[in-house]
Amino acid sequence: MTDSLTVRDNRTGQEYDVPILDGTIKAADIGKIKAGDDIPGLAVYDPGFVNTASCRSAVTYIDGEQGILEYRGYPIEQLAEKSNFLEVAYLLIHGSLPTKAEYESWVHEITYHTFVHENVKSFMEGFRYDAHPMGMLMASVGALSTFYPDARNISDADNRHMQIVRMIAKMPTLGAWSFRHAQGKPFVYPDNELGYTANFLSMLFKMSEHKFEADERLVKALDILFILHADHEQNCSTNAVRSVGSSQVDPYSAVAAGVAALYGPLHGGANEAVLRMLRRIGSKENIPAFIQGVKDGNERLMGFGHRVYKNYDPRAKIIKKACDDVFEVTGVNPLLEIAQELEKIALEDEYFVSRKLYPNVDFYSGLIYEAFQFPPEMFTVLFAIGRTPGWLAQWLELVQDKEQKIARPKQIYTGDRRLDFVPASERWA
Ligand code: ACO
Repeated sequence: MTDSLTVRDNRTGQEYDVPILDGTIKAADIGKIKAGDDIPGLAVYDPGFVNTASCRSAVTYIDGEQGILEYRGYPIEQLAEKSNFLEVAYLLIHGSLPTKAEYESWVHEITYHTFVHENVKSFMEGFRYDAHPMGMLMASVGALSTFYPDARNISDADNRHMQIVRMIAKMPTLGAWSFRHAQGKPFVYPDNELGYTANFLSMLFKMSEHKFEADERLVKALDILFILHADHEQNCSTNAVRSVGSSQVDPYSAVAAGVAALYGPLHGGANEAVLRMLRRIGSKENIPAFIQGVKDGNERLMGFGHRVYKNYDPRAKIIKKACDDVFEVTGVNPLLEIAQELEKIALEDEYFVSRKLYPNVDFYSGLIYEAFQFPPEMFTVLFAIGRTPGWLAQWLELVQDKEQKIARPKQIYTGDRRLDFVPASERWA
């Protein structure tokens, strides 16, 4: 069997052999197919990049049919159970697990870069009292580029490392402050004696006590949620980071684009929709009528289905387990019972089974976030903190990839041509 594709252009009768490599053909090879010398070569039309590979990547592997997710080859289940967020961040960025010395130095570096310039604080204080925390996060991540102008030197490996450490370290500070601002509470400075996730909780919830130490079970559950969100290959926000990063801008600006993409309801907002849906259903007795509404096309079962996973989303399984630990501390969210019953019924129902609709990461995550007493606007901020190492690992891969170019898709032009311009004085006469 030859790894090539024979294409016959019926406009000209000419045949082309297009090599197949890694299950793909090169769009540039398709561009060589022409119906005439002055006619542009054939292009591929793919809104939403549904079937277009934009890069080679060794960061994250997903098999949607089997429900497999691996970071750098390690199954997500093992990382969630046995690792922690900073070790996973190291793995994503460096490509392999750290030695003891590497791990200690990494944790030390991240811990000692959690503070931000005091001007960042005044900048954040300038937002309106009701500013959405994601808008504040997006703007303040972008603003960091003005505090570290050296970040634009992206060809220097040490410099890139410095910015990566800064960004992973400062995201919880910016995220926590965007939360405090909405509540009119004073910003809490980082506590470098605490671990990454415990420090984040301290900056979120500390008031007048000398030290805020969250329950270990809550720290662990949030750390797991960060791990589960740390990367998901070429999703919308990662594609935004890569696309903006391809102009060789500094990484703060590229990651700000990722935060912006995540802000959109189709990307980061589904867990909030799940909570709204569960509230609307209200009690277990109303589930059959709701399911019927879904089947009739009047409703959508939020938190079910995924573009890639056609099996149980492996992250949803882990989150479901984490729910138990969190509710042990906070008391059970009454919506959990409805969610569990809904899942049970849907997983046995022909409509969902035949369409391969399973719970995704968002089905249970909103319930956990609510148990922490986060308002829904904060859910996406938590997602962004978790996703930062993934964005940066992908950015690092991009800037070192010799095959990459500035992102610049083609279009199919549908507008007018060669109109004659009539000056306003004549048009309006
Ligand atoms: N409830 C009911 N029916 C559904 C659902 C759902 N949640 N999801 C898909 N379907 C049905 C569709 O109506 C369609 O049925 P049909 O073949 O009879 O027309 C079929 O399943 C295929 O669905 P598509 O919309 O083609 O699937 P697509 O891959 O485009 O959509 C998506 C994936 C957007 C996630 C979809 O499943 C959905 O809207 N789910 C609910 C929202 C949600 O939970 N989003 C979070 C995704 S995870 C994340 O972003 C982190």
